[in-house]
Amino acid sequence: MEENEVIEELRKYNQPRLIDILNKVDNEKRKELVNEVKEINLKELERLYENIKETADVDVGELKPVKSVNPDKLSKEEYDEYENLGADVIKNNKFAVVIMAGGEGTRLGFNGPKGTFKVNVEPEPKYLFEIMADSIARANKKYGVTIPWYIMTSNKNNEQIVNFMEEHNYFGYPKEYVGFFKQGELPLITEDGQLIVDENYNIRKAADGNGSVFKSMHERGVLDEMKEKGIEWVYIGQIDNILLKMVDTLLLGVAIKEGSEIATRSVFKDFPRERMGTLCLKNGKVKVIEYSEIPEDMIEAKNENGEMLFGESNITCNLFSLKAIDKISQENLPYHKAHKKYSYMDENCKIVEPEEPNAYKFEYFIFDSFEFFNQISIVRGKREEDFAPIKNKEGVQSPETAIKLYNDYWRRHADERM
Ligand code: UTP
Repeated sequence: MEENEVIEELRKYNQPRLIDILNKVDNEKRKELVNEVKEINLKELERLYENIKETADVDVGELKPVKSVNPDKLSKEEYDEYENLGADVIKNNKFAVVIMAGGEGTRLGFNGPKGTFKVNVEPEPKYLFEIMADSIARANKKYGVTIPWYIMTSNKNNEQIVNFMEEHNYFGYPKEYVGFFKQGELPLITEDGQLIVDENYNIRKAADGNGSVFKSMHERGVLDEMKEKGIEWVYIGQIDNILLKMVDTLLLGVAIKEGSEIATRSVFKDFPRERMGTLCLKNGKVKVIEYSEIPEDMIEAKNENGEMLFGESNITCNLFSLKAIDKISQENLPYHKAHKKYSYMDENCKIVEPEEPNAYKFEYFIFDSFEFFNQISIVRGKREEDFAPIKNKEGVQSPETAIKLYNDYWRRHADERM
């Protein structure tokens, strides 16, 4: 596309500010900016703008509680049957793991990718990537295999993560079994739908959320690579849960036995207003409703025994069949928007620092993929066994709370340490 055609497109998609900037900058900068515009899907921009105007409207009347498998209520035979089904998948090299590490970790406020954050656990401090490597390596030893391990990075942190892993010798994980792939990005837009140019004359974009994992696996060739390796099941987990157990044979077994393409581990809320995404059924399909969007009546709803009706919560511990990933990668997940403050270049090429939120960042969420399936298996996990997230600098879900959960867990499971 020629420069004048790009300008024409920008006019068509209502980007007057960017056109003004292009008219004012020198040739070299204009060329660079034009090249950046060519990379942007302007049609998608329209969809993003449409999304700004939409409001999330949840009708509580349609929502029903989900059913889950509670391991504590299984007989030994049932439990073993699930476990064996799952273990067979691992032993037959049909299983891979993906760690999503493309997030910005803004709440933690650590200057670097979250995976390179070191936590002061017993008996010695460990990096988050190291904790993940240890966890998969333990399973490798148990099942006599080497599980392919993929790490999703972002444009921003890919180089840092790859170098970090190399410098630390992949924490002893066989290097040829570790793969990296970059997730996508979406442009930020102002309240009136305009692209933002930053102080370096670049168009501002941000990682497009953890739901990017499916398309990114497809576009970066990871899906094909897995197919070639004969992988049938993929666990996709988050970097910041230091009790994450990716090689979850029970979850695998339940998915297989129930004939589901997706399975997820939940934990039950401690109290109704706990800030967690809620798992529920909408028109018979499993859906996660973010804590900020849960309708009031749903929060307090109870069953006949006085228990929370919508207590089952999402902890981003998800298992997908490769077929499911393939299918989702062809679909468009919905956008979730965040209204934030971003500095921007005005039509006179001056940088403006807004005092109020002025623009939107968009993300895909991994759990929105559930809606493409009629059935999803859910296994009730336990906080003290499965969920020690590091989200905030202090307080809830902080290094302090996660370290305590981790240390307590390993005191109880000392015999399983390597
Ligand atoms: P969060 O949604 O908690 O975001 O990510 P975050 O980036 O880690 O932290 P904040 O919100 O900026 O404080 C959950 C998981 O999804 C990954 C994160 O790395 C984490 O493992 N993630 C998130 C991505 O891989 N890409 C993204 O674009 C966003």
